[in-house]
Amino acid sequence: MVDIAENGRTWLLSGPTSSYALHLSEAHELLHLHWGPRIALADAEALARSPLPAYRPFESPLDGREEYPVEGGPRFVRPALCVRTDERRGTEWRFVSYELGAGTEGGTDGAELRLRFDDDGLAITLHYRMRGDVVERRVTLENGGRGRVELLRADAATWTLPDRDGWQLSQLHGRWAAESLLTRAPLTHGEKVIGSRRGHTGHQHLPWVALDTDATEERGEVYGCALGWSGSWRIAVAQLPDARVQITGGAGHDDSGLLLLGPGESYTTPVFAGLWSDGGFGGASRTWHAYQRAHVIPDAERDRPVLFNSWEATFFDISEEQQAALARRAAGIGVELFVVDDGWFGARTSDRAGLGDWTPNPDRFPHGLKPLADQVRGLGMRFGIWVEPEMVNPDSDLYRAHPDWVQYQPGRRRTELRNQLVLNLAREDVQEYLWERLDTLLSGAPIDYVKWDFNRCFTDAGWPGEPYPQRLWVDHVRALYALLDRLRAAHPRVAFESCSGGGGRIDLGVLSRTDQVWTSDNTDPLDRLAIQHGFSQIHPARVMAAWVTDSPNTQLNGRASSLRFRFVSAMAGVLGVGGDLTEWTEEELAEAREWVALYKEIRPLVQRGELYRLRPPTGGLSAVQYVLGAETVVLACLRTQSYGEPVPRVRLRGLDPTASYECRETGEVHRGAVLLHHGLPTGLRGDLDAAVLRLCRI
Ligand code: DGJ
Repeated sequence: MVDIAENGRTWLLSGPTSSYALHLSEAHELLHLHWGPRIALADAEALARSPLPAYRPFESPLDGREEYPVEGGPRFVRPALCVRTDERRGTEWRFVSYELGAGTEGGTDGAELRLRFDDDGLAITLHYRMRGDVVERRVTLENGGRGRVELLRADAATWTLPDRDGWQLSQLHGRWAAESLLTRAPLTHGEKVIGSRRGHTGHQHLPWVALDTDATEERGEVYGCALGWSGSWRIAVAQLPDARVQITGGAGHDDSGLLLLGPGESYTTPVFAGLWSDGGFGGASRTWHAYQRAHVIPDAERDRPVLFNSWEATFFDISEEQQAALARRAAGIGVELFVVDDGWFGARTSDRAGLGDWTPNPDRFPHGLKPLADQVRGLGMRFGIWVEPEMVNPDSDLYRAHPDWVQYQPGRRRTELRNQLVLNLAREDVQEYLWERLDTLLSGAPIDYVKWDFNRCFTDAGWPGEPYPQRLWVDHVRALYALLDRLRAAHPRVAFESCSGGGGRIDLGVLSRTDQVWTSDNTDPLDRLAIQHGFSQIHPARVMAAWVTDSPNTQLNGRASSLRFRFVSAMAGVLGVGGDLTEWTEEELAEAREWVALYKEIRPLVQRGELYRLRPPTGGLSAVQYVLGAETVVLACLRTQSYGEPVPRVRLRGLDPTASYECRETGEVHRGAVLLHHGLPTGLRGDLDAAVLRLCRI
């Protein structure tokens, strides 16, 4: 809900447990008042009356207090907005008005608060919306003047955290095959900057940070911020001199120019969402998950099917008959969606050719994809394909016809990575080509699922002939979003997966138009525990694709693991199978069938339930628990058992303290809020063992 003071200068947004308050001073400064536990409007008004900080030599009276610090005037913190016109640089705004959009059911729940400012014809609107306990912020800039306005930098928001000693910064860092690894370290004075200079979200950092001073998994205050943008981005976390912290973030990796706004043109930043939780890191994650299921992920109430993906089974060496053989085996173990990965189109028999030519390879699929799709459908499964629309191999019909459709700098080398170039999606002709090709593809065969990949970074982001070429960084992402939106609207039955060489494009922006993401190319079930642990800090299991592949792991490390361990590790997300099923023995297939059946039973809990991370993957035993209504399930993975020590006890969370719960696996009945299950998980021993325990309230 949104409360507004009578004088129209203090605004209070509140969710179930938290509040966010801001105030406009007489001097048209927009000041941050509060972000934390829920307060009343009177409290916010009292905060607004607090005396200004005393004069301090060499310090700005505004720094650390403003909602959206602009460049110019007595400000020395990182500006969220840097603007240049033909005459000058910087912003000096005047408050114009505020308005409240429509909320749900006639109230102010979910209503958007818009604060409008003006700087000599440049309209600046700050948007705020409370969804649950998540505050969504973004900014719209509209050039209503006569001249051109260059947005050197336009962040989505600046978040201000209270004065406190000992801030700790948590982040998710990584690289290809090692994404989403969680670290937490003291924040020191100065700035910590994370981001991507690559044109996509990147494997190196998820656009998320969390700050706390003394939180644990289960208790303590946590602030979290996450950006919804799938191109280059930057989040800067600044420890200011007075123990306040400011977090500024938005699209683009530097301040050298984002867009040029001609008269009448506008730019809306991505959403930068933030939350405060006093439920520790676990509570913060559950708030993020609930928010994404309710407001970000399309059709989140619909559970995702168990899929088979052909990549690790057959790589580029595919044919209709061989895929059909895999499909028969996949259907036999209970798979619900069969996805043909790379290699079905153009001259794509390796990564050296064919990207861009989105028609079935005539040698491999002489009658197109429909015969295979029909067979898959006949086996009771849905059918999916892999595409990488934003790319082109120089060895392709598309590139031969349109060598100027790629990003390039005139007179410079066109850098090939994985033998491919990046199409300039900012061009309308490229957008139309991709729309036409993909629309035709989805109309020509019964395709239910598209895995949308992106396998290289921008390197030569030029656009010969375009007066302001650097706009392609932003416009590429806008075009990608528009294409996905258009395809979804035209083909509502088709689900989309975001992939970028594994987890290179995972963020709230892409998640608002895709149904799940490929978490990592690393399918080793042990490595995956840490990757999934990091991923779960912000994103729910409902979008976290995880495959069971062959053992020893062929792709990465040669590690051998049991089918049990591989399944339990992957069942913590959207289960998939990616091994070469034609090589699996009858016993393995029979066991796989049982695991898939078990997954289908617990799927509503995993995909829609509340997550409790019982034990992190750093120790010998790691365990996650999902709770939905009267049921709960624990997935426990034992990395190693040393010195014959018993497997540690695990205390379950999130249960009704007054109820009794019966364990399906052991038949034992447990009472009380604190459920100490002796010997959980039942019978775990040795290295790389795993177990599933289901409990139901009786
Ligand atoms: C990278 C993806 O992450 C893999 O799963 C696979 O689709 C390959 N690309 C195909 O080229």
